[in-house]
Amino acid sequence: MNQSITKTITINGLRPGMVVIEIIEQSGAVKVTSSGRVTSQSMVDSLKAKGVKKLRVSVPVDPPESEPAAAPHTHKHDKTSFNTEIITAEKLHRQGKTLQSELLEAVGNGLSFDEQIPREFSQKLVASINRNPDALLCLTKIKEKDDYLLEHSLNVAIILAHFARYLGMNDEEVVALAHAGFLHDLGKIQVADEILHKRGKLTDAEMDEMKNHVKYGIDVLEEANMDGHLIRIVSEHHERLDGLGYPHGKTAAEISQHGRMLAIADMYDALTADRCYKPGMTSQKAIKILLSEAPEKLDKNLLENFVKCMGIFPVGSLVKLSNKKLAMVVKQNASLAKPVVKVFYSLGGGHFLEPKDIDLSQDDRVSIESAALASDYDIDFNAFFQRSVTV
Ligand SMILES: [Fe+2]
Repeated sequence: MNQSITKTITINGLRPGMVVIEIIEQSGAVKVTSSGRVTSQSMVDSLKAKGVKKLRVSVPVDPPESEPAAAPHTHKHDKTSFNTEIITAEKLHRQGKTLQSELLEAVGNGLSFDEQIPREFSQKLVASINRNPDALLCLTKIKEKDDYLLEHSLNVAIILAHFARYLGMNDEEVVALAHAGFLHDLGKIQVADEILHKRGKLTDAEMDEMKNHVKYGIDVLEEANMDGHLIRIVSEHHERLDGLGYPHGKTAAEISQHGRMLAIADMYDALTADRCYKPGMTSQKAIKILLSEAPEKLDKNLLENFVKCMGIFPVGSLVKLSNKKLAMVVKQNASLAKPVVKVFYSLGGGHFLEPKDIDLSQDDRVSIESAALASDYDIDFNAFFQRSVTV
């Protein structure tokens, strides 16, 4: 579990990974008032340049080496603490969005791209997930308005790699799946904006064009000479076991296990993502919908494993606690209803709290009352969680 302590330090003691709670002393004309996590040395330098002298911070303390692992499966091998990995993960997440937008732009302009770049990026994602999956998983819940197309493929890559690792697949397979997830929707850029971003129901003709994104994407990947199996996985993400999917209407016997996994991760992220016209649903609701699609359309066995892998309250999701506080799930426990959470907001007081980790499996006084959505509350959750110190 990740512990942290609070202390007052001078600017010279500020390091990436610390969370600034309050600026105590500063000179200069530009007053720094907001708080948040320091993610890079350049951020420290920028605060220094703005005259910040003394500040109160929360400092992560890594658990002792001998700490027994409480969680099942993927987590017992975590080599790096959440607070350390989140720094790398945030960088990767930003790079991933930039790379996705560059790829989309290239595809949209009919240009080729170096297939090596997304593959290397996928390897880096998997390396972060191997060190501690919770950091990137948390970031899949950070949604920027209007960035759905960029974030969705990145999220699917992260979720899919985590799922593959949970199933015990080898590194090669895990990377292949992350890679496929990252590239699975490139063809969407060739669908006209009026259809892609249409708020209302699509007409039959528009729906047919929307479905063409799979074919467009496959053409691009073939032109880039991508690996045949990767192309197969991508081509199967809208195929369904009952033969009613697209583009080929493949039957169960024809759809690969990797393709079935991508279908699940794709649907899960699409349902939980905020869109410009509607907020995403809770993971519980999304899982319910996925379960209603099995075994006819989705692979039931894989889906059951997916639910176990993500947990009842997935890492990164918000929960309302019995003590009227909001918290974010940061780690699964063997008992899925009692994860480790980071408490950060008082609903009673209507204000942010100094973030504090609570292991609900170790604390009987507080429990999860319900899943929560940031969109239900008038608070800038993204700014709190991801946006670091800004002026
Ligand atoms: Fe798709």
